[in-house]
Amino acid sequence: MGNLKLTNVTKAFGALTVLHGIDLTIDDGKFVVFVGPSGCGKSTLLRIIAGLEDISAGGIEIGGRDVVQLSPAERKIAMVFQSYALYPHMSVRKNLAFGLENLKFKRGEIDTRIAEAARMLAIEPYLERKPRQLSGGQRQRVAIGRAIVRNPDIFLFDEPLSNLDAALRVQTRAEITRLHRQLKTTMIYVTHDQVEAMTMADEIVVLNGGRIEQVGTPLELFDNPRNLFVAGFLGSPRMNMLKGKVMAVGEAGVTIDVGYGAPLAASIDPAAAKPGQAVLVGIRPAHFAVGDEGLPFVVQYHESLGTETYVYGTLEGRDEQIIVHQTGHFAPRSGDLLRIMPLSGRVHVFDPDNGLALPQTVSQRSDAYEHA
Ligand SMILES: Nc1ncnc2c1ncn2[C@@H]1O[C@H](COP(=O)(O)OP(=O)(O)OP(=O)(O)O)[C@@H](O)[C@H]1O
Ligand SMILES: [Mg+2]
Repeated sequence: MGNLKLTNVTKAFGALTVLHGIDLTIDDGKFVVFVGPSGCGKSTLLRIIAGLEDISAGGIEIGGRDVVQLSPAERKIAMVFQSYALYPHMSVRKNLAFGLENLKFKRGEIDTRIAEAARMLAIEPYLERKPRQLSGGQRQRVAIGRAIVRNPDIFLFDEPLSNLDAALRVQTRAEITRLHRQLKTTMIYVTHDQVEAMTMADEIVVLNGGRIEQVGTPLELFDNPRNLFVAGFLGSPRMNMLKGKVMAVGEAGVTIDVGYGAPLAASIDPAAAKPGQAVLVGIRPAHFAVGDEGLPFVVQYHESLGTETYVYGTLEGRDEQIIVHQTGHFAPRSGDLLRIMPLSGRVHVFDPDNGLALPQTVSQRSDAYEHA
């Protein structure tokens, strides 16, 4: 069974501690994505789970079994790397067979597993070729095939698509998702790509500086980031931040003064805020309505992507850049003054001292608003 439990997993390289007590449980069959800035410890954590790296302290259980002393093969884990790591002098078939031969599998069993994996990944036509005779996408499929034939309890992927071009990434992403649905095996997947994280994951784990910032479904993290880090990390372009002050605290929520005589309503637990308190207000670029009222926004420039437009500018008289998203074509001129109004229920509020989100009275939900 492929459920995984990490308890207080700590890793130091000499004097440098890179993982600070990771606690994480992953249920059997889940697709979990690790994201976080470069150097935050994603690959190290993956290698520790695989058994390619020792831990300095803590525990690792797979299917209720302590695996800390076990080799990667004994853990029943298979890992797919960014650099496909195929043996260049071996045919595809031999690359797939090699690990099983080392584990003394019978010839018939090896052939059956290779045939099954090759069919699943549509690499049958290439079985007799050498890796150099394959495209990058085909090579990565072989690398995934090599993991599949091992029939592992857990698959680990470390940025497997980052060497592929955009079209191939989309295609291979869909193939991995399909594979997960078919095999129903636990998969842990590291990526820098927001779209991969949002679309592939049952759960996303956000890491930062060797610590977990938040774990949740993609929409939970997007709609209810628990702190400034997660709010800024997920979502592209990033969430806008405005300085403000709590004006009034009432039953239904609080009102916040961000200037310009246009108080914002936020569904914040009244017990968590007090009048006069300094806050940071977070609003995603897509959560402004452009219209006749709201905050005065001075346009600097815009980027048209065809189906959507990003408008860059500042609030009148201020320096912080604000990004406003509009669907379709929209071409304001530099210097134009627009009025932008945060959509109701889409206002995030943070305590600037500790970076934590103030608790919301009603959980923000992605279906709580109509996308303009
Ligand atoms: N073998 C090692 N010896 C010393 N330090 C290491 C070693 N491996 C990794 N580190 C350090 O551990 C930290 C985490 O590295 P890791 O490769 O896990 O980051 P990452 O999140 O995968 O980054 P990226 O997104 O760039 O792949 C980094 O500071 C890195 O320099
Ligand atoms: Mg890495």
